Amino acid sequence: MPTSPSQPTAQPAAAASVPASAVGRRDSRRSTQRWLPWGKVVVFLLALTPLLRLVVYGLTDRLGANPVEFITRSTGTWTLVMLCVTLAITPVRRLTGMPWLPRLRRMLGLFAFFYGALHFATYFWLDQWFDWADILRDVSGKRPFITVGFAAFVLMVPLALTSPHAMVRRLGGRRWQRLHRAIYAIAVLAILHYWWMKAGKNDLAQPAIYAIVVTGLLGARVIWAIGGLKRRPPSLAQTQAPGSSRSPANSDSTVSRSRTR
Ligand code: HEM
Repeated sequence: MPTSPSQPTAQPAAAASVPASAVGRRDSRRSTQRWLPWGKVVVFLLALTPLLRLVVYGLTDRLGANPVEFITRSTGTWTLVMLCVTLAITPVRRLTGMPWLPRLRRMLGLFAFFYGALHFATYFWLDQWFDWADILRDVSGKRPFITVGFAAFVLMVPLALTSPHAMVRRLGGRRWQRLHRAIYAIAVLAILHYWWMKAGKNDLAQPAIYAIVVTGLLGARVIWAIGGLKRRPPSLAQTQAPGSSRSPANSDSTVSRSRTR
């Protein structure tokens, strides 16, 4: 209903009753909305630099004596790095209170899948030249580190396919969230893959660093989940799985976030 100029409006009173903290939150949300699209562009370009580096090295003949090994190792490393960064979003957000961080998660998770796909393609194309019989032998156990890497990659596929918002809605929050917990298995398999590969060369320093990082990122979740259970009333703690009341947006998903945030 329109209000005449002579009528006092309820707005000033309402504005006065809004707590300062809520106004501050609204202002900070507005400023985030302004810069976040640019932030995403910067993160996108940064995440593309490993690929650009490979292209530049390829064009300038700087891939070393064994270019296929160089590309395999580089793409494998960046798959693992992107996985770790994606997994770090939730702990870093919890520790720093940066509410916009989860909005980068979908892109980072998709970059993990992208580098994983390049890594796999390098293996079956440049390394194996589509020798499917040999590839099948590797994947089915001849070289166990490849079996484990392949399992990690296969698990990434459904997460990438269900990353669009439409898929989140179609699956429903709970089911989507349960599916995206596969990120934890993927991270463990990825470490095992790297560890196994380097164990054959007696060179475990780098896999050990990644193993410590992943253990820390998964361990923090376990500690917080146990802490959350302890704080809840016993009846709730017994009937509700940890995190089940959260929206997919706040979950530790690999490649997606929901608009329900
Ligand atoms: C989530 C999936 C995967 C991750 C995170 C991953 C990660 C890695 C990492 C970090 C390396 C070692 C890089 C280095 O030496 O610095 C590597 C090497 C390698 N990976 Fe993967 N990988 C994955 C999936 C796969 C798949 C699906 C295959 C093939 C079916 C594969 C085949 C290889 C091969 C052949 C090597 C090189 C071995 C060598 O140089 O002796 N990986 N991977």
